[in-house]
Amino acid sequence: MKKINLGVIGAGRIGKVHVETLMQNIPQATVTIIADVDVDEACKLAERFGIKNVSADYMEVVNNKDVDAVIICSPTNTHVQYIIDAANAGKHIFCEKPVDISPVEIKKALDAVEKAGVMLMVGFNRRFDPNFMKVRHMVDEGKVGDVHIVKITSRDPAPPPAEYSAVSGGMFMDMTIHDFDMARYITNSEVKEVFVKAGVRIDKAIGEAGDVDTAIITLEFESGAFCVIDNSRKAVYGYDQRLEVFGSAGMVSVDNNFPETHKFYSANGVHRSLPLNFFMERYTESYANEMRLFCEAIANGTALPVNGNDGLAAVLVALAARKSFEEDRPVKLDEIK
Ligand SMILES: NC(=O)c1ccc[n+]([C@@H]2O[C@H](COP(=O)([O-])OP(=O)(O)OC[C@H]3O[C@@H](n4cnc5c(N)ncnc54)[C@H](O)[C@@H]3O)[C@@H](O)[C@H]2O)c1
Repeated sequence: MKKINLGVIGAGRIGKVHVETLMQNIPQATVTIIADVDVDEACKLAERFGIKNVSADYMEVVNNKDVDAVIICSPTNTHVQYIIDAANAGKHIFCEKPVDISPVEIKKALDAVEKAGVMLMVGFNRRFDPNFMKVRHMVDEGKVGDVHIVKITSRDPAPPPAEYSAVSGGMFMDMTIHDFDMARYITNSEVKEVFVKAGVRIDKAIGEAGDVDTAIITLEFESGAFCVIDNSRKAVYGYDQRLEVFGSAGMVSVDNNFPETHKFYSANGVHRSLPLNFFMERYTESYANEMRLFCEAIANGTALPVNGNDGLAAVLVALAARKSFEEDRPVKLDEIK
């Protein structure tokens, strides 16, 4: 693989994960420049990895002649503009989820990408978790037969501050979006209908900000499969990420990942460590696989494993989920399109 030079925009939680992965786990990749409106954050991150160029202005990343691809890790409401500018500058793009909360805006970004003939990958990292990948391969091989039911448990260890609801687009758009993508990935099918029961069970301030923190979501797929997703913003025992696929020939399930696998049996019970606490620890391998595949696709000109249309499809499901919650009825995806 030829050497790939990357420029990163946004040095927050996920920006740090990607820079560390690129600099430490992918020998053929190097980060050339980091930009963040909070330039101190960019400087701190750059210093950790000996990256020489930093800026408060994202256009310095976009226009940097050494940069082959731009990694967008800034807040969601910046993504579309940054994708359009990067595409117009002829750069390949990796953009964090969600691309935006408006399908109309997303389409503008996808049009710019198509016109420029560059590649756009969207950050649905969970597809690259080794166990979830294995499940998809088993489904493809017919090991579980026809898929009838997918069950996704996706619970965070702690809720974000209530103000985050406004900038993130709310729980369905920010958090469940990963589960919508996982359900599409596992079933290899499109969502036909969504029904949601949701509410506030954890933090009243989240409700006051117009969001929910607890939900049960039912999806029906074109393939005939059903999926149930359960979400909570607060599991007191940590990050709860489990998957089960049930079909005509069997069932496959994935448990949580634990920092230690030993179990201690005593007269009081069986004891083991809590699951890995949050996404930075739980999904480390998936982030590395994701970045490696992105770099390989750029280097070899091969197809991306997640593209802009996947980014749009998950946002449409998130909008249908919100509508179902607000109107307390099943919503067909056709109503959103
Ligand atoms: N795939 C995943 O697992 C995952 C995990 C977390 C976040 N995300 C997504 O990544 C994006 C960033 O989330 P985060 O949790 O890292 O946020 P964060 O708040 O931790 O970091 C965002 C960074 O962007 C900077 N920033 C703010 N406005 C900017 C602008 N206009 N231009 C450039 N930089 C700007 C901030 O100073 C901050 O350093 C969001 O879209 C979020 O949905 C994805």
